[in-house]
Amino acid sequence: MSARRADVTAGGAPAPNTVPAVDARDVSRTFHLGAEVVRAVDHVSLEVPAGQFLAIVGRSGSGKTTLLNLIAGLDHPESGQIFLEGREITRSSDRELTKLRRHTLGFVFQSFGLLPLLSAAENVELALRIAGAGVRERMERTRELLELVGLGPRADHRPYELSGGEQQRVAVARALANRPRILIADEPTGELDSTTGAQIFQLLHEVSAGGVTVITATHDPFVIEHVDRVLEMSDGALLPEGRGVIVAQTRQGQAAPPLPPPAIRPPAGPPPPG
Ligand SMILES: Nc1ncnc2c1ncn2[C@@H]1O[C@H](COP(=O)(O)OP(=O)(O)OP(=O)(O)O)[C@@H](O)[C@H]1O
Ligand SMILES: [Mg+2]
Repeated sequence: MSARRADVTAGGAPAPNTVPAVDARDVSRTFHLGAEVVRAVDHVSLEVPAGQFLAIVGRSGSGKTTLLNLIAGLDHPESGQIFLEGREITRSSDRELTKLRRHTLGFVFQSFGLLPLLSAAENVELALRIAGAGVRERMERTRELLELVGLGPRADHRPYELSGGEQQRVAVARALANRPRILIADEPTGELDSTTGAQIFQLLHEVSAGGVTVITATHDPFVIEHVDRVLEMSDGALLPEGRGVIVAQTRQGQAAPPLPPPAIRPPAGPPPPG
């Protein structure tokens, strides 16, 4: 990765290595639907070292999105504690959580989550505006990020004028806007064809190589083969390391193809003079 790309994706000063990026301790989240009780996350403990690329797999409904939302402070557990870089977010005020999401953490939603009336550039810029960046910084960083994800020429397009893969790339650009140290991506390749999914995954891989801790929920065997660590959820519980049907099936299958070369590149600059 070029120095420039590393600079665009890398988070701020990394936390000391001894402090895990994420430390969830005995966390539970239950939903009550009438008489039915759904234990979406059931006594989950999870430590993610800074800089690790972790994939969480599991059947639909196993609790992946619920767990990621808890880690991101988008939802509150009814019991247990969650620490991000050593700070307990389960005790944080809403104001502190908002600040955390603006500056420490980026989130890519399962369904992209772009604002439909805003262009690609405006969707990215909004994240910077909310974090208090000045006009010039917003313009420069937005352009830089859209080039990073290969969408410089699509900056003025609205989401409905973009393909699914392009929308997801805008969502990744937006999540990276404030140089998060932790990136959470909920099935970022779930709605994409395999080639486009591989491109998005390649992008996350580069983000990870820049030192950002990346946690993704996925069903994609390709992703499972190329991350640092895979954990499987089942009925709200996190299975012990190396256990689980999906992990076993993937590992028994044929070796996954190697990562493609970086498919998303900033457009070439102007030709050298002369
Ligand atoms: N807001 C909610 N209210 C009630 N039940 C919910 C809510 N959110 C999730 N659930 C339930 O919690 C369980 C876990 O859901 P979750 O979305 O975390 O699963 P998932 O593993 O992300 O599934 P998928 O792979 O389909 O995205 C499911 O049974 C779901 O129906
Ligand atoms: Mg989900």
